[in-house]
Amino acid sequence: GLKIGKLLSETGYVTLDTGFVNTASCTSEITYIDGDAGILRYRGYPIEELAEKSSFLEVSYLLINGELPTPEQLTEFQDKITNHTLLHERFRSFFNGFPSSAHPMAVVSSAIGALSTYYPDSLDPFDPEQVDLASIRLLAKLPTIAAYAYKTSVGQPLLYPDNTLGYVENFLRMTFGLPTEKFEVDPEVAKVLDMLFILHADHEQNCSTSTVRLVGSSHANLYASVSAGVNALWGPLHGGANQAVLEMLEKIHADGGDVKAFVNKVKNKEDGVKLMGFGHRVYRNYDPRAAVVKKATRKVLDTMGVNDPMLDLAMQLEEVALTDDYFVQRKLYPNVDFYTGIIYKAMGFPVNAFTVLFALGRLPGWIAQWREMINDPATKIGRPRQIYVGSPERHYPA
Ligand code: ACO
Repeated sequence: GLKIGKLLSETGYVTLDTGFVNTASCTSEITYIDGDAGILRYRGYPIEELAEKSSFLEVSYLLINGELPTPEQLTEFQDKITNHTLLHERFRSFFNGFPSSAHPMAVVSSAIGALSTYYPDSLDPFDPEQVDLASIRLLAKLPTIAAYAYKTSVGQPLLYPDNTLGYVENFLRMTFGLPTEKFEVDPEVAKVLDMLFILHADHEQNCSTSTVRLVGSSHANLYASVSAGVNALWGPLHGGANQAVLEMLEKIHADGGDVKAFVNKVKNKEDGVKLMGFGHRVYRNYDPRAAVVKKATRKVLDTMGVNDPMLDLAMQLEEVALTDDYFVQRKLYPNVDFYTGIIYKAMGFPVNAFTVLFALGRLPGWIAQWREMINDPATKIGRPRQIYVGSPERHYPA
């Protein structure tokens, strides 16, 4: 809860709001959430309409520029991204420097930070052309980085981007293709992944986006700020939840599939066990993104001919939780990542790559929010206060 605490300084009182539950850090024109009603809009457009009708790059343009692109603007944006998908040849040795067991989120955040060393011509936060260039480079190179992190971990050769392919198709080919075989991208898989990226593309001042803004408020460059955002996303209470959900489902399955016993464990807060993929700081209603994903999951699995017992387990868990007083009273509903892992798994991604997929989707949001922050005359360096509760003055023993 919100508390007013006395600050022991000349400035009087400060607000103690741990976790920033009631504190706005900025004004923003990008994303609107009504958590009670379960509404999410990017630049005024309902998420359900964008998920159904738009494409990830079009949504990226919308978030970053404020308006949907004309067909010409979209083509120009896509072409620019396509022109920057390659990584510097020396960057390849970077991936070999990590153990093959490296978590891909560590590799990805390091690689994004390292991009700044190759592109000193796009580090000035106050030069709009440099910011445009850094934005395009990030959008273009993150799929290449993500695919290379995966390829290195499984010991397969890296594939150059194929610029005749679309954004998501190219990523899928670089991830799952082999130099010895022609890789046919399944258009259904590409379409669903594109839609999942749209659903993740922005979510106003969440933990990773706030991190991107906070780092950028010191005038650190866009690559450094986004790299920090990736690290914030990694945690299981945020983007890492998609990995945690699947691990939870697999554990329940391995223990005999007793959903009620697991829910009881959660309710009794045994060993701090939570129902991962449930609950949200802002939504006190069904997460509208979760509703879209849930609808897609069964369809995708059917189309791909996959029969995963994890889906039935997840549906049972949801049913038990949604009718249980513990969850009802606390208004805990499935969030976006309750079902995504089941789709990612069916597509062939390893569990530890799931959060990287979230990062790919969230990237345009981070970029748009960073740009809004840097161009807002009201922005100041982010510097919260504290209420000191430590020892009063004491003296070093003589
Ligand atoms: N399982 C069990 N109990 C929960 C859960 C959960 N998933 N989420 C919240 N609660 C309980 C809390 O224990 C608390 O109970 P109490 O009042 O008896 O102490 C109550 O609900 C309120 O929860 P808070 O922790 O105060 O809610 P907060 O807004 O701080 O946390 C969060 C939100 C971190 C998302 C939380 O719901 C959670 O940990 N969920 C599981 C992890 C998860 O799925 N994260 C993804 C979030 S969405 C995203 O980033 C994609």
